[in-house]
Amino acid sequence: MSRSTPLSNGKALAITAGAAVLFAVLLLALPSPERHSPPMAPMTNPEPTGTPLAAESLFRSRCVQCHALPALTHRSPEDWRILVLKMNRYMQQTGRVFLTASEAQAVTDYIVKNQK
Ligand code: HEC
Repeated sequence: MSRSTPLSNGKALAITAGAAVLFAVLLLALPSPERHSPPMAPMTNPEPTGTPLAAESLFRSRCVQCHALPALTHRSPEDWRILVLKMNRYMQQTGRVFLTASEAQAVTDYIVKNQK
């Protein structure tokens, strides 16, 4: 009967090891937040770029993030191109949704075509 102590120690060890294995399995099984695709969605533009509608909605959504929609007063296409690039750099620097190179081009074309 003096064996009861070493035996229960071994049993306790087995239970501890078993619990550790179970815990490890649970840890591996539980963290499954592999749903990281929806947060990426706002960055991609669902509309095809280059079409007038896409350019106008880009202009209306991107260019009001910091100030009111700018009046399209007359400037040379080159001035608008530089201005849109400057604004786009502000967007990137302040962590806002910004334009891809082709979107910036589409917005510039839209502004130049629709300026007063
Ligand atoms: C990240 C914030 C931000 C966004 C987004 C933004 N702007 Fe601006 N905008 C500014 C700031 C700041 C100024 C004033 C400083 C300056 O002119 O550089 C300004 C000034 C302007 C001006 C007057 C400046 C001038 O030279 O007459 C126009 C026009 C303008 N923005 C157009 C736009 C257009 C078009 C877009 C979209 C492509 C846009 N902005 C998006 C921050 C922004």
